[in-house]
Amino acid sequence: MKKTGVKAFAPATVSNICCGFDILGFPIHGPGDEVIATPRDEPGIRITKITGGKGKLPKETMKNTAGVAGMALLNHLGRTDVGIDLEIRKKMPFGSGMGSSAASAVASVVAINHLLNSPLTKWELLPFAAAGEQIASGGAIHLDNVAPCLLGGMTFNRDNDSFDVHRVYLMPGLYVTLIYPHIEVLTAEARDILSPNVSLKKMTQQAANLGGLILGLGKGDLKLIKRSLKDVVIEPQRAQLIPGFYGAQAAAMECGALGCSISGSGPSMFALSNNSLIAENAAKAMQAVFDKQGIENDVYVSTINMEGAKVC
Ligand code: HSE
Repeated sequence: MKKTGVKAFAPATVSNICCGFDILGFPIHGPGDEVIATPRDEPGIRITKITGGKGKLPKETMKNTAGVAGMALLNHLGRTDVGIDLEIRKKMPFGSGMGSSAASAVASVVAINHLLNSPLTKWELLPFAAAGEQIASGGAIHLDNVAPCLLGGMTFNRDNDSFDVHRVYLMPGLYVTLIYPHIEVLTAEARDILSPNVSLKKMTQQAANLGGLILGLGKGDLKLIKRSLKDVVIEPQRAQLIPGFYGAQAAAMECGALGCSISGSGPSMFALSNNSLIAENAAKAMQAVFDKQGIENDVYVSTINMEGAKVC
């Protein structure tokens, strides 16, 4: 084990990406969480400090996504003899749809793995980061934030339980607008409102759009991407959670975005564009919709982060 502390950064992520509910995600540049892992003599993981998160995050190791992820990694490695202090710096809001709980879990395993002289690759860290994120999502494993946050690029989870995760080939030149309106939507609640049934017609449309999106992104077919960036199943049920959702979506599309929808379970919204000018214009237009309603918001314009989490 290294003698000095290690700091890791894990980025904010957009998940679902319209037609890929629980399946697709990508990270952006800018917002993210940091975790500092420092060796200590007594075995086990102790969370010594949490900044950000409005004091809502537990310091008990087994109730915290970073703590659970770190312990899962130490157990797997058979290194329960080591002692590690974790400091968590939450640099993005909780319940925002930007993958906040995933980022803490990912930063934790990346920092601890590095502290232990990197016994595992990034891909091998995925189950342990997922174990951490799982406690924030009511026990369900969905990798659509954890996988892209850790690995970078757009990821496709064919099966969450067996970690059957793949990178999606992406055309260059894509820009993301991400806007976080300051309202809280908890993932568990946003999942509870979803109907367990989908009509055959909608199932076919959603599957066709997912295939079209992946094909379009791979071959750089902007028209196909635009036709496919649609969510006929989840968005119509969750839009009510975001005041002004349809106005902001229309505003982004009028600027020329390829698509615009809810980021993860919301309330953040994202738009995907094929140049930075459209992405910046979409940012201003979406912001105007929330400003008009008196809803404070933060907006980010970024390319897709191809690196994911890193030691920094
Ligand atoms: N895909 C999840 C949802 C969010 O939309 O409920 C994060 O995993």
